Amino acid sequence: MRLPVFSSKFTPNAVLVVLINFSAVYARTATSEADEAQITDPVEECTAYYYAPVTDALDGFPTIWQPATIVSNDTEAQNIWANISQSVPTNILPHGDIYGDWNDTSYNVAEDPDCWWTKSLCTTPKLSTLPADVASIPEPETMGYGFDDGPNCSHNAFYDYLLEQNQKATMFFIGSNVLDWPYEAMRAIDEGHEICAHTWSHHYMTGFSSEDAFAELYYSMKAIKLVLGVTPTCWRPPFGDVDDRIRAIAEGLGLQTIIWQYDSFDWEEQSGNITAAQVYTNYDNFIARAENGTFNTEGSIMLTHELNNFTMQTAVTYYPKLKDTFKYLVPVGVALNKTQPYVETNYSLPTFDEYISGNVTTNSSSSSSSSSNSTSSSTSQSSSADVPLIQTISSVLLASITLGILMLAV
Ligand SMILES: *[C@@H]1O[C@H](CO)[C@@H](O)[C@H](O)[C@H]1NC(C)=O
Ligand SMILES: *[C@@H]1O[C@H](CO)[C@@H](O)[C@H](O)[C@H]1NC(C)=O
Ligand SMILES: *[C@@H]1O[C@H](CO)[C@@H](O)[C@H](O)[C@H]1NC(C)=O
Ligand SMILES: *[C@@H]1O[C@H](CO)[C@@H](O)[C@H](O)[C@H]1NC(C)=O
Ligand SMILES: *[C@@H]1O[C@H](CO)[C@@H](O)[C@H](O)[C@H]1NC(C)=O
Ligand SMILES: *[C@@H]1O[C@H](CO)[C@@H](O)[C@H](O)[C@H]1NC(C)=O
Ligand SMILES: *[C@@H]1O[C@H](CO)[C@@H](O)[C@H](O)[C@H]1NC(C)=O
Ligand SMILES: *[C@@H]1O[C@H](CO)[C@@H](O)[C@H](O)[C@H]1NC(C)=O
Ligand SMILES: *[C@@H]1O[C@H](CO)[C@@H](O)[C@H](O)[C@H]1NC(C)=O
Ligand SMILES: *[C@@H]1O[C@H](CO)[C@@H](O)[C@H](O)[C@H]1NC(C)=O
Ligand SMILES: *[C@@H]1O[C@H](CO)[C@@H](O)[C@H](O)[C@H]1NC(C)=O
Ligand SMILES: *[C@@H]1O[C@H](CO)[C@@H](O)[C@H](O)[C@H]1NC(C)=O
Ligand SMILES: [Zn+2]
Repeated sequence: MRLPVFSSKFTPNAVLVVLINFSAVYARTATSEADEAQITDPVEECTAYYYAPVTDALDGFPTIWQPATIVSNDTEAQNIWANISQSVPTNILPHGDIYGDWNDTSYNVAEDPDCWWTKSLCTTPKLSTLPADVASIPEPETMGYGFDDGPNCSHNAFYDYLLEQNQKATMFFIGSNVLDWPYEAMRAIDEGHEICAHTWSHHYMTGFSSEDAFAELYYSMKAIKLVLGVTPTCWRPPFGDVDDRIRAIAEGLGLQTIIWQYDSFDWEEQSGNITAAQVYTNYDNFIARAENGTFNTEGSIMLTHELNNFTMQTAVTYYPKLKDTFKYLVPVGVALNKTQPYVETNYSLPTFDEYISGNVTTNSSSSSSSSSNSTSSSTSQSSSADVPLIQTISSVLLASITLGILMLAV
């Protein structure tokens, strides 16, 4: 195994501190997608590992978990932005900042000139060239089933459960998480989940300059392409924070904007702002609506997360009830008959009719095995525990941990 190349961004002291912290929680590290998928101890699941294709590509990305800008020598990104920027409105200015601080009391919410969802729940752009957001599900009595903020390092129990239930979902992945946890991202696509982007660093998009908002979307797509071999065609704005300026950038990148109608607020439980009981009430109310006919002509989407044990366990706990109450639970793309979910045409989703008649699996052409590296033996016991620690820590993960990331939810 090669030594990881530590980025020059890290000071030796920072690396040392991380190594010390790591040894305290040291557990074995995963060596492949299949190996990672077998780990059941969340501490081991979340032990950093080395994945060469990511480490080798880091120079081409913004700093993990930091607000994105176009990488200075990335002429490809610059050219794409030069092209897209021509159709991005310049009369819509950034709102507040990227932390969701909107002192912008001057915004006319009643007129809502920017179709700013965060203020008005607007999903039909004022700019006539833009398509409407996907906010509900055209199929009656159907739930568009999906989870934000993954891949989470400790998601195995949750993904095992989905596999047992033969249930697929739409996973809205954060670019920085994909590079931190590539094997977990691979597990999602290989088990037939639909992958959409959820930005690079998970900030409020309408607070970015247009060029930086482009970088947030572009590098999240690039991270997914690097690790999964496919380019997503859908995204969900963190906190739902989108307006026509951001929609135009997403549209330029070929990304369909997907929002929601109901929020479980599962993401707020860890901040202590909301109790578990309140989250259960939100799920119960959603189910009550399904029971009282609210979704009889049009299905719905509820915001839920692959964020931490609470959000994933709540999803597991409520799955049987959702399954009983809704006629169908399907990935958003399946509900839309979006059989080609990625730019690459060697991967397809079943149609809605195929899915509900039992064919829930994606068809991926086997000519080239997926770029996800699942070729190494899945059953052999990993012997990585005796590999020196420094060789097994991904420099990517060092980046997140050194920076002391406090992940924002939604
Ligand atoms: C940008 O520069 C870095 C090193 O500074 C290099 O590794 C990388 O390949 C360059 N990227 C491009 C697109 O030229
Ligand atoms: C932008 O790129 C698209 C697709 O490559 C091309 O069709 C279009 O002409 C370009 N637009 C401009 C203004 O360069
Ligand atoms: C919002 O207002 C507060 C208090 O007046 C101020 O500290 C903060 O800098 C303002 N934020 C922005 C984005 O204007
Ligand atoms: C994943 O979930 C665990 C708790 O189960 C949490 O400690 C961790 O910070 C989460 N985040 C990521 C990025 O995996
Ligand atoms: C908690 O909720 C209050 C009121 O809804 C909100 O202003 C605040 O930002 C929330 N705090 C966190 C940490 O989410
Ligand atoms: C269905 O239940 C929800 C939640 O309890 C309620 O807000 C809504 O008004 C009800 N709708 C109908 C048609 O009964
Ligand atoms: C949540 O944590 C508990 C206790 O460690 C564990 O038994 C359970 O499987 C976890 N649930 C999920 C969905 O990860
Ligand atoms: C999906 O395809 C089915 C079967 O052709 C059709 O009934 C349904 O209306 C389609 N849904 C959408 C959203 O296009
Ligand atoms: C399931 O759907 C995929 C994708 O449309 C298709 O390639 C495959 O043949 C179907 N399998 C069955 C058993 O119908
Ligand atoms: C998978 O689907 C694509 C697009 O529908 C199709 O061209 C390809 O032949 C299918 N491959 C297999 C193995 O079914
Ligand atoms: C699809 O094709 C892309 C390149 O065009 C490749 O990177 C990827 O691994 C392929 N995926 C599958 C599932 O075959
Ligand atoms: C895939 O995994 C095998 C075994 O761990 C390794 O030898 C190979 O270099 C990996 N390939 C890539 C592209 O990561
Ligand atoms: Zn989110």
